[in-house]
Amino acid sequence: MPEQTTMRAWLVTRTGEPSEVLELHDVPVPTPGPGEVLVRVRAVAVNFPDVLLARGEYQVRPELPFTPGIELSGEIVAIGPATDAAGPSDGDPDEAALGVGDRVVATKIGVLAEYAVLAASDVHPTPHSLDDVQAAGLMIAYQTAWFALHRRAQLQAGETVLVHAAAGGVGSAAVQLAVAAGARVIGVVGSAAKADVVRDAGAELVIVRGEQDFAAVVNEATEGRGADVVFDPVGGESFERSTKCIAFEGRIVVIGFAGGTVPTVRANHALVKNYGVLGLHWGLYPTKNPALVAEAHAELVRLADAGAIAPLVGGVVEFEDAPAAIQQLAGGATVGRLVVRVTP
Ligand SMILES: NC(=O)c1ccc[n+]([C@@H]2O[C@H](COP(=O)([O-])OP(=O)(O)OC[C@H]3O[C@@H](n4cnc5c(N)ncnc54)[C@H](OP(=O)(O)O)[C@@H]3O)[C@@H](O)[C@H]2O)c1
Repeated sequence: MPEQTTMRAWLVTRTGEPSEVLELHDVPVPTPGPGEVLVRVRAVAVNFPDVLLARGEYQVRPELPFTPGIELSGEIVAIGPATDAAGPSDGDPDEAALGVGDRVVATKIGVLAEYAVLAASDVHPTPHSLDDVQAAGLMIAYQTAWFALHRRAQLQAGETVLVHAAAGGVGSAAVQLAVAAGARVIGVVGSAAKADVVRDAGAELVIVRGEQDFAAVVNEATEGRGADVVFDPVGGESFERSTKCIAFEGRIVVIGFAGGTVPTVRANHALVKNYGVLGLHWGLYPTKNPALVAEAHAELVRLADAGAIAPLVGGVVEFEDAPAAIQQLAGGATVGRLVVRVTP
């Protein structure tokens, strides 16, 4: 256990805009119970749910006051009683157990603090190739993109993938993973500056939303066939226009509604054009199929250490500036991940 008994933690004390309702407090360092580990938090990547949590609009509404932050990188500093070894619960006897001193990544609501208690089964090893800031952005975005492309859409090498919000957190991860899988990637972004970032990540074509009709560009680039897979974290018109450029037997994966509008699926259109609309809620997998999460993590570690993927860090802020960073994400202007550096 660390010598210090109190730590700094951000607390949401009332719901509202993140820059207005987060307060920095001194609170007791939590103690790990049976089956748990205590992690010294090194970095926290900001996610859209942090915005929604502060506003009281997330699907989970913790009792006030609560600590936001849902994704961390850090180091195990203590292991709870009756916890033989921490590690991913994939049942693989060859998987090395994790212990005190190991670098880990994890997701859980309430990690925007200097220490966090996590279930031993929920922490995963940090790839050697990533520093703590990069590693903070690995789990949610890349797990989401991996499950969307490989588990839900069954992406095949040589297929064409259309990625909306391709410079965003989950979008940039989807671009990198699709390229790594041997797919041809077409990205859609909100500005020319974002387009450069997506081209650098390996997309063959990048369309600036509002400047060109992406459906027409995709149809032309695929000689009328359309995109085999659409990765859509935006919703609204992005989803609706995607149905105009989806290939025969194509798959549109619904990731989120960053644009603010939940689209309507027209079942008759899906039937007539022979495409599928697949939902993805990654947050269900750690409880519904933890072995698959560990399997995906092992693959992500392999890809990171091979240099095939690397979280796109668009900005790093100090712990004191976390509320402004969450507010910035709410505006949709960020590139890749904004990461809060928590402890040295
Ligand atoms: N299903 C899941 O399991 C899962 C997991 C993680 C995240 N998500 C969801 O995926 C979405 C994206 O998350 P993220 O972490 O990638 O966020 P992000 O980095 O902020 O990316 C969102 C992007 O959406 C685009 N956008 C278009 N219209 C927008 C608007 N009106 N307001 C804000 N952004 C707008 C922006 O890119 P351009 O300017 O380039 O268009 C923005 O950068 C969120 O809705 C999140 O809740 C879902």
